[in-house]
Amino acid sequence: MRARITGTGSYMPEKILTNLDLEKMVDTNNEWIMARTGIEERRIAADDECTSDMAVIAAERAMEMAGVSADQIDLIIVGTITGDYPWPATACIVQAKIGAKKAFAYDVSAACSGFLYALSCANDYIRCGHGTKVLVIGAETLSRSIDWTDRNTCVLFGDGAGAVVVEAGEDGAGILSCHLHSDGNYLELLYQPGFGAKHPASTAGVDSRLQFLKMQGNEVFKVAVRSLTEVSIEALEANGFTHADVKLFVPHQANRRILEATAKRLHLTDEQTYINVHKYGNTSSATIPVALDEANRQGLIASGDLVLSAAFGGGFTWASTLLRWA
Ligand SMILES: CC(C)(COP(=O)(O)OP(=O)(O)OC[C@H]1O[C@@H](n2cnc3c(N)ncnc32)[C@H](O)[C@@H]1OP(=O)(O)O)[C@@H](O)C(=O)NCCC(=O)NCCS
Repeated sequence: MRARITGTGSYMPEKILTNLDLEKMVDTNNEWIMARTGIEERRIAADDECTSDMAVIAAERAMEMAGVSADQIDLIIVGTITGDYPWPATACIVQAKIGAKKAFAYDVSAACSGFLYALSCANDYIRCGHGTKVLVIGAETLSRSIDWTDRNTCVLFGDGAGAVVVEAGEDGAGILSCHLHSDGNYLELLYQPGFGAKHPASTAGVDSRLQFLKMQGNEVFKVAVRSLTEVSIEALEANGFTHADVKLFVPHQANRRILEATAKRLHLTDEQTYINVHKYGNTSSATIPVALDEANRQGLIASGDLVLSAAFGGGFTWASTLLRWA
């Protein structure tokens, strides 16, 4: 038995924030952002919109494609680091909103690797025979964790949500393997210092801007390219494939330079590599399901195609999934 993706869906908020808009907010310019990141614009959630709202729309689109109704779902997993509340899980809120009465639900916190970590959980759950239908979502409202006065980070990120329905199917098509890694020694290169148990909410903490994402960009860059390359090779080698067998590489969309450097090391062509970071920036756990949905709806993936996906994020965490499209 294999777990296979039978439906994809995504939702991006309407509001567009361009590089020209950012020029008015911080000391930056379109040329710098384009040259260093390839990002042209990003989406920002409306004031009354949060992570579960976007997740629900993406999930409903994925369920519609799969022909699966909410009451058939056994499990909902949301990869997110910007849930509606510190707790409970955003997955529980999604469950209530879509009316998935028999499902149990939990979040996975693995930053930008959150979706592939969640997909791995769904794969294990199905292959162990615990259930047959899982909703896997990556959704983020990063705009509320970004310091809009910090030009080092605010140009990079955006909001959005993507979802897939994963169902039990026969051997052959489906998820071939998932490879997951972490290294907590890199914590402070990419993290949000407040307001968890270590630095609970306080006025002093707000004054020190601890509630916002902090990053040492150039250090992250180097480890990201190396890790994405290694974990992608790990997936191909574990299944006896080479880069030439890959129909589409759908990596985490952090920035164009990371994607291009990784694709080059993997000997993947432009045609084999799906890139949409110019439109949305880095939406953390949402980038891969959104890209998968776009590629799927554009007809870039057909039944039988080999799809390779790889992610890297805070923790550090990194992961890959290789699948034969159903
Ligand atoms: C963030 C990133 C684009 C910065 O590019 P870089 O080439 O490493 O640039 P540096 O951080 O070395 O900064 C170079 C200069 O640009 C400046 N700079 C930073 N952000 C800027 C901005 N938005 N506009 C203009 N200048 C900026 C810096 O202050 C620095 O100036 P200085 O030399 O006077 O000190 C790049 O490091 C990167 O993409 N890192 C990975 C980030 C990421 O993807 N994180 C998420 C992973 S899941």
